[in-house]
Amino acid sequence: MKVERDLHMNRGDGETSYAANSRLQKKSILKTRPVLHKAVAAAHASSLSSGAGAMVVADLGCSSGPNTLLVVSEVLGAVANLHEEQAAVSGVRPSPPPRVQHLQFFLNDLPGNDFNLVFQSLEVFKKLSAKESGEAALPPYYVAGLPGSFYTRLFPDRCVHLFHSSYCLMWRSKVPDELARGAVINEGNMYIWEDTPQSVVKLYQRQFQEDLSLFLKLRHRELAANGQMVLAFLGRKNRDVLRGEVSYTWGLLAQALQSLVKQGRVEKAKLDSFNLPFYAPSIDEARDVIEQSGVFDISHIQLFESNWDPHDDLDDDGDLVLDSVRSGANVARAIRAVAEPLIARHFGEHVLDELFKMYARNVAAHLQKVKTKYPVIVLSLKARRVPKCQANGNCH
Ligand SMILES: C[S@@+](CC[C@H](N)C(=O)[O-])C[C@H]1O[C@@H](n2cnc3c(N)ncnc32)[C@H](O)[C@@H]1O
Repeated sequence: MKVERDLHMNRGDGETSYAANSRLQKKSILKTRPVLHKAVAAAHASSLSSGAGAMVVADLGCSSGPNTLLVVSEVLGAVANLHEEQAAVSGVRPSPPPRVQHLQFFLNDLPGNDFNLVFQSLEVFKKLSAKESGEAALPPYYVAGLPGSFYTRLFPDRCVHLFHSSYCLMWRSKVPDELARGAVINEGNMYIWEDTPQSVVKLYQRQFQEDLSLFLKLRHRELAANGQMVLAFLGRKNRDVLRGEVSYTWGLLAQALQSLVKQGRVEKAKLDSFNLPFYAPSIDEARDVIEQSGVFDISHIQLFESNWDPHDDLDDDGDLVLDSVRSGANVARAIRAVAEPLIARHFGEHVLDELFKMYARNVAAHLQKVKTKYPVIVLSLKARRVPKCQANGNCH
């Protein structure tokens, strides 16, 4: 598997597309709204005080569908509110009229992302948001697509004021080398699961640490002074790494593949050689990497939980799953929109319908026993001023 080539969400806006099945991720964007708005205010202030021609905002792993432009809309709305507040202050005190800052958005994802869908929806988005903003006129803004991995440099030095990334950083830059070489060391699984050897857990953990510290180093170089970064990604609440909540998501999918192996419809060797480029860390694991990087201060860190079923909005209902069959089908649709391209490339398209039917049944049976929730880690980070040699890791 080559992540840069193979990883993308289901394209288009049809029944199985990510665009039509990203309610779970939408809920996370809405939940992190207050954190994002605070970071926008800080980034806006720093772009104004530095005299930059525009406030530069990049959404990393933007995907395609309504969530992509929801992020743009949230940032625009937050800046419009700031302009209004400034106008109200200068209305009561004699002061120069507030400067309206232009916004430049960069929407980043891997090259296989359905950027066309995003670009095609821009005109309607612009018209609708201008109409809806009413009194609070939106600042002038420009939107560009930026294909490439966020585990590489994406921008020149010090030119971005705000990075945002939602539901992306649990994806690794690659499958850990030893697993990718084809060694059968996590038989029957596609990720960490109850019988995964500790040596394999360590491979995933090391890959996570390397990826996140590289990501922080790269973004720090690209951020302007006082630059901000808001990150939300899947994590783990259970201390036991073999029983992490997201492990169940992939474990139940591996079980469905095992059933296809038993029926002779999938080769066992194919299943044994399929490994996800994924790791959901605990909040402590994430904090440790950030602290060790030495280039960001943590302004906010939290973990919230989100029901597996994207359509289940009952948050304070303890362990109650009202209709496990329906929830199983909803979870299967959400996971299919994310994992289908990787599965289809490895196992072939012919397995998809039967696989996700079985998966829906496995999830329904699991939800009858325990209402599992996705833990989501939310971070707001502020770039630290550090000597250039420290950021590059070559101080003597
Ligand atoms: C679950 S989607 C989230 C999309 C969107 N942010 C949302 O909240 O709906 C994860 C996205 O991260 C992207 N992604 C994963 N690894 C990436 C990388 N190394 N560089 C850029 N994008 C990446 C995937 O292609 C996918 O579009």
